[in-house]
Amino acid sequence: MLSHIIDVLADPIDGTPLRGADDFTRLVSESGHSYDVARQGYVTLAGGAGLRYSGDDAAMVAERETFLSGGHFAPFVEAVTEHVQQVLDAGEVADDASPVICEIGAGTGYYLSHTLDSIAGSRGIGIDVSVHAAKHLARCHPRVGAVIADAWARLPIADQSVDAVTVIFAPRNAAEFARILKPRGQVVVLTADTGHLAELREPLGIIDVESGKVERMIEQAAGNLRPVGESDTIEFEMLLDQSSIASQIGMSPSARHIKPEALAERIAALPSQMTVTARAKVTRLEPLPR
Ligand SMILES: C[S@@+](CC[C@H](N)C(=O)[O-])C[C@H]1O[C@@H](n2cnc3c(N)ncnc32)[C@H](O)[C@@H]1O
Repeated sequence: MLSHIIDVLADPIDGTPLRGADDFTRLVSESGHSYDVARQGYVTLAGGAGLRYSGDDAAMVAERETFLSGGHFAPFVEAVTEHVQQVLDAGEVADDASPVICEIGAGTGYYLSHTLDSIAGSRGIGIDVSVHAAKHLARCHPRVGAVIADAWARLPIADQSVDAVTVIFAPRNAAEFARILKPRGQVVVLTADTGHLAELREPLGIIDVESGKVERMIEQAAGNLRPVGESDTIEFEMLLDQSSIASQIGMSPSARHIKPEALAERIAALPSQMTVTARAKVTRLEPLPR
């Protein structure tokens, strides 16, 4: 619910604080801008130019929901939550502090709701540019506020107000993360690593994750964030049937590059069940000293 995180939200146009008006059917900023809360519970907080991207479409979000509900990525989810807990411990955040965790490109809210369930009293902001994702986000957890916003624009969040930012296979805006994090806050990033879904690459014609991805991310963040320790590699095997494989591909950008009929044919030619490698890296970054 947006009321849980209203103290952290800010006007996307001028950064002034927002408050709920008319029983939280609108958010109104100190400077007088008004943003309608959708019937489904999310709010769009975009500056004057509006949103330049639409994010995942309805079909991709539905495939994501189907795939994740199978529990195939559980070790990724657990690793992200574990790292967020470590960030709070390192920052000596008190147990009763109601820490704020902001996920960028939060999709259906699967990761964020797991983290909130594990950390008592924590509050979540789920940001995604996709309206289809926002509808899921708004109902994924009672302590999540769902916001449609563009990760590449000024985030509608107050300066130094967030304890942890999480980014799971989604866009990273290092300058904005450094601005919204509390001084002892950190970013937890999960990035796919070379070898992820290796067994599916050749038969389905999908490209591998390029090597050096984490190093490039660290370089790009350099003026704003610096790494905390080494990245943690998470690798495990999943037993997937053809329908789970179809959902996995359907929720990824590969879905846009292969014609649906060709993809269906290639999936039908696979064994009925396959062992598939999942491999990603968790990297933590902190703001440069201010
Ligand atoms: C690969 S999905 C990951 C979703 C979620 N983190 C998960 O792993 O289940 C990437 C998400 O980022 C969102 N996204 C893409 N571009 C974005 C942008 N510029 N601002 C905010 N969200 C964006 C998409 O709509 C999508 O939900």
